[in-house]
Amino acid sequence: MIDQRHLPHALVVEDLDTVESVFTAIREMHVRGAPLIGAAAACGAYLATTDTTTPEGVDASVIRAVGYLKEARPTAVNLAWAADQVRDAVLQANGFEAKIDAARNAANRIIEDELDRCRLIGEMGLQIIEAAAARTNRPLNILTHCNAGWLACIDYGTATAPIYLGHDRGLKLHVWVDETRPRNQGARLTAWELGAHGVPHTVITDNAGGHLMQRGEIDFVLVGTDRTTRQGHVVNKIGTYLKALAAADNDIPFYVALPSSSIDWSVGDPSVVPIEERDPDEVHYTTGSASGGGTASVRVTPPGSSAANYAFDVTPANLVTAFITERGICPATESGLRSLFPESENR
Ligand code: MRU
Repeated sequence: MIDQRHLPHALVVEDLDTVESVFTAIREMHVRGAPLIGAAAACGAYLATTDTTTPEGVDASVIRAVGYLKEARPTAVNLAWAADQVRDAVLQANGFEAKIDAARNAANRIIEDELDRCRLIGEMGLQIIEAAAARTNRPLNILTHCNAGWLACIDYGTATAPIYLGHDRGLKLHVWVDETRPRNQGARLTAWELGAHGVPHTVITDNAGGHLMQRGEIDFVLVGTDRTTRQGHVVNKIGTYLKALAAADNDIPFYVALPSSSIDWSVGDPSVVPIEERDPDEVHYTTGSASGGGTASVRVTPPGSSAANYAFDVTPANLVTAFITERGICPATESGLRSLFPESENR
């Protein structure tokens, strides 16, 4: 895995070979982003099968590991979705070797399927980019929040997939990148990804988006999601909701790139989705490249102040112009989602 905590200043690759190391990597955000933490949890569940000697031992180990891994982070539904798939594959297989094979195959399938979903989201979203580009004779300006790029998704990204494809096809694009305090996934990760791909971009403070919208400098907003309820409410990185509100006030389309692995069909009302609250020190301190080399962490807040660190918020479905999924584009409604995923009627 790339240990994303070190980007963009160093590319550090980490070997994870125990369930515990996978748990820590997810919880401490060495790996992050909804599809990637799902894939990581699936690999962690597979690792749990490798230190046992009996079929019963494999079952017990994977059940225990899946329960444990699900505690690593609460909001992105991909984590539980992927870990459960590996557990179910193991429980359905017969025999020791077959169970281990089933775990490995399930984890690999999740990885391959996420790649496909992201690639297809790119193709579906390209229609939106091409239509918007046809309406203007200047570079298209897209605002994104957090990192919904390949770092978050193994490859392509969700929100970035259409952007990369549009850029590769020669469309003139420019991306406004919200810095995304406090972990700065936009400033550190999205900017690094876009730069490496040659996509013109500008990092802005989290509060600048509304101002740019009022000045006509944003054509549309394109973000990812950690969990979308069947009614179309979008739980994503903190600050997404404010961008959606500002976009609505300025008649700017607000799109959500949504792999089906991020849909929680069991939830309609988003108030039951757990919103992760992280260590307040992520707000108190900021970390970056030190002028003398290496990284430095500096305190921003006064010593006596307390801080709260809500990691996600809910954007109501009515503020979302449309979902871009691997099967096409649909309205942010239950019927819109079910029209693309009719098999969900059984869930
Ligand atoms: O806390 P993070 O960095 O894991 O949050 C990630 C996001 O909020 C992304 O926007 C989301 O996972 C969609 S990525 C495809």
